[in-house]
Amino acid sequence: MEQKEMIYEGKAKKVYATDDENLVIVDYKDDATAFNGLKKGTIVGKGAINNRMTNYLMSQLEKQGVPTHFVEELDDRRTVVKKVSIIPLEVIIRNRAAGSFSKRLGVAEGSDLLCPTLEFSYKDDDLGDPLINSYMAKAIGAATQEEIDEITRMAFAVNEFLKEFFAGIGIELIDFKLEFGKTSDGQIVLADEISPDTCRYWDIETHEKLDKDRFRRDLGDPEGAYKEVFARMGLGK
Ligand code: TMP
Repeated sequence: MEQKEMIYEGKAKKVYATDDENLVIVDYKDDATAFNGLKKGTIVGKGAINNRMTNYLMSQLEKQGVPTHFVEELDDRRTVVKKVSIIPLEVIIRNRAAGSFSKRLGVAEGSDLLCPTLEFSYKDDDLGDPLINSYMAKAIGAATQEEIDEITRMAFAVNEFLKEFFAGIGIELIDFKLEFGKTSDGQIVLADEISPDTCRYWDIETHEKLDKDRFRRDLGDPEGAYKEVFARMGLGK
């Protein structure tokens, strides 16, 4: 697999072309941003942790019948994935109230929810990834009804697996964000990453935050939190 020119640089990852037009290489960075890039910093070692965690979880999800973009881990930070066109919707599932949900709806962070929720954000940095519903998404051509149905079904399936998995290592999965893409042959697959950057993880006993909120909210030692989750997953060295 030959790594060719960089085709995209995001806030947390770079993407490179390869000699196979259907495959790209993602390269995870230690850069951390919050509030649509307003806050910038570094979480040392994050790139390698997020790369390995994402690959582990996507491999497990494949076994559960959830198709993903994962192909092969190359090294600490780099992974070969299927080239997809990203559906411009961030899919957020919540099991407990937190973050923007708590703020928007006036529900105290940590409150129980009567059922898991799903919301979409329209992926557009200039607009600050605004909340969007399925009618709006269809109206602007962000996704078709079939795509919305499919990614909704897949997102809840991912939730069932992840909730159980993390509960088994003493972590409550509060909420998380997924992205989906379409391969050249039209299959919808789970893309992007599943990591403490994109999930809220609270220790089941102490409710300590073990995710990027430690960076967003200046709670201290984000590196320690990422390493803790990594170790509990059995991936630490
Ligand atoms: P929120 O409560 O800020 O809307 O975040 C919900 C979940 O989505 C949380 O687990 C963090 C994740 N998330 C991202 O992955 N990227 C983002 O840009 C934002 C705002 C949240």
